[in-house]
Amino acid sequence: MEFKNLIIEAAHGVAVLTINSPKTLNALNSEVLGEIECALFELNLDEAVKAVIVTGAGDKAFVAGADIKEMASMNAYQGHQFGLKGQRVMMLIEKMTKPVIAAVNGYALGGGLELALACDFIYASSKAKLGFPEVTLGIMPGFGGTQNLARLIGPNRANELIFTGKMIDAEKALAWGLVNELVAPEELMAKARETAAAIAGVGTLGVSYAKNAIANGLNMTKEDGFRYEASLFGVLFATEDQKEGMAAFVDKRKAAFSGK
Ligand code: CAA
Repeated sequence: MEFKNLIIEAAHGVAVLTINSPKTLNALNSEVLGEIECALFELNLDEAVKAVIVTGAGDKAFVAGADIKEMASMNAYQGHQFGLKGQRVMMLIEKMTKPVIAAVNGYALGGGLELALACDFIYASSKAKLGFPEVTLGIMPGFGGTQNLARLIGPNRANELIFTGKMIDAEKALAWGLVNELVAPEELMAKARETAAAIAGVGTLGVSYAKNAIANGLNMTKEDGFRYEASLFGVLFATEDQKEGMAAFVDKRKAAFSGK
């Protein structure tokens, strides 16, 4: 499928989804959100794709937020619907059966930071700037940011970031545990691709079930989470990947996983 605002490339099990509207610093309007939703849906169904990287075009921004010019004239009903549309995209990333890595190459603000937070982890350029400027616009984060940020870095740091609307630099984002690693701008995509390729080379079902256990387990009591983990762990013993992975270990050879 062709997209107006996205570039999708896929090779060797790794797909890169680039949001490509640099004139607005890749801001998320309804059309861009709709395209991201379609693209992710397709990438999730594509068995050849084992890991996805999300990034922004240009060297300035990952995504500078939801589109303020589109939101400016919305009424309460439209604002609610727009929030739900954005949240649907974020939830889709969480529910995808394959890992999604955010490669934050510049500003990740508002809906842009929400998009990065919805991914399974974030690598950031050392020049990135992250924040939730919504309160400076008279609103609040609406694409899952209040929920995902507080869960990731704890409520106190999330409160400070969201209540002030101030941006933090990449160093602070690393210190706060918001991003996994800082990378020189010119090396960011290579780093993301290297990790995605490593994920693409291991047992697809094990990765997928682990993602499911972590994401769902965070919404359960620890005891329920353990029970859930045990059931998924057990199911993996019915897969070809488990037979192949363990046989390869015993035979001292590299496993050839089929994802079945
Ligand atoms: N929406 C719409 N257009 C945007 C945009 C956004 N979020 N961010 C940038 N743009 C546009 C600018 O209007 C500008 O367009 P024009 O050339 O037509 O004027 C173009 O992108 C370039 O931006 P700047 O000239 O402002 O670039 P800069 O380098 O001076 O500043 C910036 C960069 C600090 C990121 C600044 O653009 C900025 O503050 N952007 C808005 C960030 C923001 O508030 N994001 C949160 C949005 S609300 C939200 O996301 C709600 C939610 O939770 C769902």
